[in-house]
Amino acid sequence: MTALLEQLKQWRRDFHRLPELSNKEVQTTARIRDILEQHDIRILNIPFQTGLIAEVGQGHHCIGVRTDIDALPIEEQTEVPYISQRHGIMHACGHDVHMAAILGTAIQLKQREVQLSGRVRFIFQAAEEVSEGADAVVRTGALDGVKAIIGFHNDPTLKIGEWRAKVGAMTANVDRFKINITGVGAHAAMPQDGVDPHIAIGQLINSLQTITSRSIAPYDEAVVTIGQIHCGETWNVIPNSGFIEGTVRTLSSEVRETIAQRMQQLCDGLAIQFGAKITLDYQRLTDGVDNDSTLHTIAQKAADQVGYNVTLQPRAQMIGEDFASYQQIAPVHFAMIGSDSHYPLHHPQYEPNEAILDKVPDYFVEFVEQLLVHYNLEN
Ligand code: NI
Repeated sequence: MTALLEQLKQWRRDFHRLPELSNKEVQTTARIRDILEQHDIRILNIPFQTGLIAEVGQGHHCIGVRTDIDALPIEEQTEVPYISQRHGIMHACGHDVHMAAILGTAIQLKQREVQLSGRVRFIFQAAEEVSEGADAVVRTGALDGVKAIIGFHNDPTLKIGEWRAKVGAMTANVDRFKINITGVGAHAAMPQDGVDPHIAIGQLINSLQTITSRSIAPYDEAVVTIGQIHCGETWNVIPNSGFIEGTVRTLSSEVRETIAQRMQQLCDGLAIQFGAKITLDYQRLTDGVDNDSTLHTIAQKAADQVGYNVTLQPRAQMIGEDFASYQQIAPVHFAMIGSDSHYPLHHPQYEPNEAILDKVPDYFVEFVEQLLVHYNLEN
């Protein structure tokens, strides 16, 4: 493993040097293709713009293993020798680590391909950061018939050697709302001639906060956050219109629908109250990742067997992860694995400890092999 580990670190650094934004991972995809081809790993002929799917093994049952491959529009501020060579783009979410780890998994499984009692499809997925890539993969039909899809994210808050997951909700449903408030512009000194959108916005800010505090039960997790407000250009004019945008995070579809409905009611009510036109554009972006219980039992066993310190994730994280889209095809499992960075994900100084690469491939090899045993016993 040591030689492979050194190789994985090298590849990870190569990816880190040349990060690419979502849906633009052209060189990254070419590099992955190159490495896979050098190891005689077959690549499926699917017309992706970026990203690819490779396959190892033979037989009826098939397991999907997914890594994301895109970077973020962030200017790197670390001092690592392999710092990003692209201005304003950085692998600040550790997808470079994920790619190296899954390449390591594919190479190890290729080495024992003859003993494999099934197939493994490695999904090198583009555009995770914009929540588009997983859906794009699902739409190709390339994963139809797979028995399970598994993945992970590095977690800088966990130490090296720590593995965490839980059954059920791991990440949140992610929604985005945009509210346009149209009043009537007027001279600031003659408010009686206008309808001031500022006043409606002021009420909206408070009313939106009552959704989680008054319409959702205290034991149901939910977040309503306003991310931006724009209204007015100068001091002596009542503007014609204003704009609020934000996000809603929930863990159940019931709570999700309650919030969307309540938001619409508040907008309609305030429109009548202030005589303004208020329109709500509520977009359901990503579902939460929902870990299958059978997969979780097998995952835990595999993690334990390769020497991870296995703990239960105490609660879901309210972040989004487009991995959830694979639930449309098969049961899924997603784990958090320690990368021990002082700075959090999406931070310009985020710097995962590369020692994470030591165990992740072993974990996925073990997980996949146990899954194939499980599915072969089933029928
Ligand atoms: Ni990420």
